[in-house]
Amino acid sequence: MKLDTLVKPSVLTQPVYEPGKPIEDVARELGLDPAGIIKLASNENPWGSSPLAVAAAKRALEHGELYPDGGCFSLRQKLATRWGLAAEQFIVGNGSNEIIELLGHVFLREGDEVVMAAPAFVVYKLVTRLFGATPVEVPLREWRHDLDAMAAAITPRTKLVFVCTPNNPTGTANTEAEVLAFARALPEHVVGVFDEAYAEFLVNAPDLRPLIAEGRKIICLRTFSKIYGLASLRVGYGYGSAEMCALLNRVKQPFNVNAIAQAAALAALDDSDFAEKTARENRAGLADLVRGCEGLGLEVVRSVANFMLVRVGDGERVFNALQRRGVIVRPVRSYGLPEWVRITVGTPAQNARFISELAIATRV
Ligand SMILES: Cc1ncc(COP(=O)(O)O)c(C=O)c1O
Repeated sequence: MKLDTLVKPSVLTQPVYEPGKPIEDVARELGLDPAGIIKLASNENPWGSSPLAVAAAKRALEHGELYPDGGCFSLRQKLATRWGLAAEQFIVGNGSNEIIELLGHVFLREGDEVVMAAPAFVVYKLVTRLFGATPVEVPLREWRHDLDAMAAAITPRTKLVFVCTPNNPTGTANTEAEVLAFARALPEHVVGVFDEAYAEFLVNAPDLRPLIAEGRKIICLRTFSKIYGLASLRVGYGYGSAEMCALLNRVKQPFNVNAIAQAAALAALDDSDFAEKTARENRAGLADLVRGCEGLGLEVVRSVANFMLVRVGDGERVFNALQRRGVIVRPVRSYGLPEWVRITVGTPAQNARFISELAIATRV
């Protein structure tokens, strides 16, 4: 009997997540010096990690023999103070990615529908499929979530709705008024998931806490990967009602967030200097990238996040050409955008290097 006859059908049809290529892989495959390669493919922080977080992580490493606090008590306490919510209103995950999967464990079964924008962060679709549920993808309108169309796509079978603002891969955001009106109008049988992975890059991020306080079925997701530069440590969190967080807690692994990540995240919350510098530099970097790309006659999507779409013609070809020249970006054909690549905002030097390599790579 072949192994795949034993496998759940949802696994066999599961698309595979394609991450941005690591520098070491590109160096090995193309025979390049890793020191000369820049990776602007995964919306990572070009300024490194929060120094306070790194110092705390090093201290935590001294006690690698102990299991971490499975309940992330200190981190949830600190988040509670920061957000003016109760500690029970937080769930900490191995990246916010894990919380998306926990939502699947808690809410999704075969026959359920999950409404999401297209394109939006691909993990929503992957998790939906993994649990045998059906993604209902609603095209963006003028590059932003079409929240009216998403509301209209809700049926009695809808369990979850994902709203990603700013959205990945477009970097566009809906306004607070739009997001709040949408959340308020969600029917009783639907859980609203508001992915705020890039919210710290916004000047005015939508604040859904009043709706959480009203008892609505809402969860918001945040991550330490981006603004605090801790992508490698894998830590993110959700906030919502205590009931929602207790349900998600039930299905997580006992020690899902390691102690080094917890210590780093705790310290990162005190590192407003680093977070502010990241956001400030990002705004300047975005402006440089827009100017550079438009100077080459290329169309861009105006972004408010730490990445941007550029229309390069044949996205795959330009991705490969850039990679051969030591610049890793993200092709977005799998997001239905074959003519575009997504570029993460880098340091001024990285952005300048990208623009000069792009000028060569887009020359046919
Ligand atoms: C929109 C969005 N949500 C969630 C994540 C997951 O972040 P993490 O698992 O690193 O917290 C990402 C990562 O790129 C993202 O783009």
